[in-house]
Amino acid sequence: APSDPDLVERARAAKAKLGDKVFVLGHHYQRDEVIEFADVTGDSFKLARDAAARPDAEYIVFCGVHFMAESADILTGDDQQVILPDLAAGCSMADMATAEQVAECWDVLTEAGIAEQVVPVSYMNSSADIKAFTGKHGGTICTSSNAKRALDWAFEQGEKVLFLPDQHLGRNTAVRDMGMSLDDCVVYNPHKPNGGLTVEQLRDAKMILWRGHCSVHGRFSLDSVNDVRARIPGVNVLVHPECKHEVVAAADYVGSTEYIIKALEAAPRGSKWAIGTELNLVRRLANRFASEDKEIVFLDKTVCFCSTMNRIDLPHLVWALESLAAGKVVNRIQVDKETESFAKLALERMLALP
Ligand code: 13P
Ligand code: SF4
Repeated sequence: APSDPDLVERARAAKAKLGDKVFVLGHHYQRDEVIEFADVTGDSFKLARDAAARPDAEYIVFCGVHFMAESADILTGDDQQVILPDLAAGCSMADMATAEQVAECWDVLTEAGIAEQVVPVSYMNSSADIKAFTGKHGGTICTSSNAKRALDWAFEQGEKVLFLPDQHLGRNTAVRDMGMSLDDCVVYNPHKPNGGLTVEQLRDAKMILWRGHCSVHGRFSLDSVNDVRARIPGVNVLVHPECKHEVVAAADYVGSTEYIIKALEAAPRGSKWAIGTELNLVRRLANRFASEDKEIVFLDKTVCFCSTMNRIDLPHLVWALESLAAGKVVNRIQVDKETESFAKLALERMLALP
């Protein structure tokens, strides 16, 4: 549905009043009505890097989810304030690894006598606490666009990796990009004693994958791929690495949201694409490229929006911008100093990856 013109006008006016004081970042999964007001759009990596691009901006309005706003706070100056227009915009995957569970896991690895050999690699989609744990234990953060480089780096530091919290990104990168076998990977289940693993399994594994997943991407199946190939002859299947291994293995191309956009920009006229990622992005791309005769369909019609990304809507954005324009800071995301220092270590290791 088209945006309410009154709200569009209010957002425009508030943003104009704030001028250079405000910097609006928008993740590719955001609604069109929100993306319209973003100064910069990107995947998680690009947004982490770009967050610090405007050190003069007093307010960084982050249109994305909580862990992204935390990372922006960690990577920007103390005098800059990061605002999340709706505090309920979390991420179910990030919630699957709590600080207590991860500390307990480290105890299990220590008791198995392998903690010394383990380097933690945490997906950007994790809380600041998990990033701090990662920094404290010599590890790095990664995103879907640099997971292979992060694992290459980690295996130079140690013999094993504890990959948090997305088992699919960890497995897909290890098997598809690093030539490991599925048997090199074990899954640590935080809800079971010792993660549901024997000491022997832990000692034999190269990749210890946390049992987390994305509820949106987890719904694409091998059937989704087979069905679309039967329906659209010659279709290119392009999926996000948060999809299950069997989906990624059956796809033609795999990559982050930014990669997906670049691939479609470079695609020849007349080509056909089935995209396995969040619906706001796929719809926007289908509309954008329709005039170039590129057919873009959603990989599986039963999968939909990321409900937490969608919580940031135009009314919330208007409220945040108008509050700031009136001198009132709302929904500030602020990571405490101690967590920040260790989390920053891990994030900076990622930013320094070759
Ligand atoms: P990217 O934008 O890094 O591909 O991440 C996707 C995602 O799930 C963010 O929540
Ligand atoms: Fe989290 Fe998945 Fe939504 Fe990304 S798409 S914010 S990983 S639930």
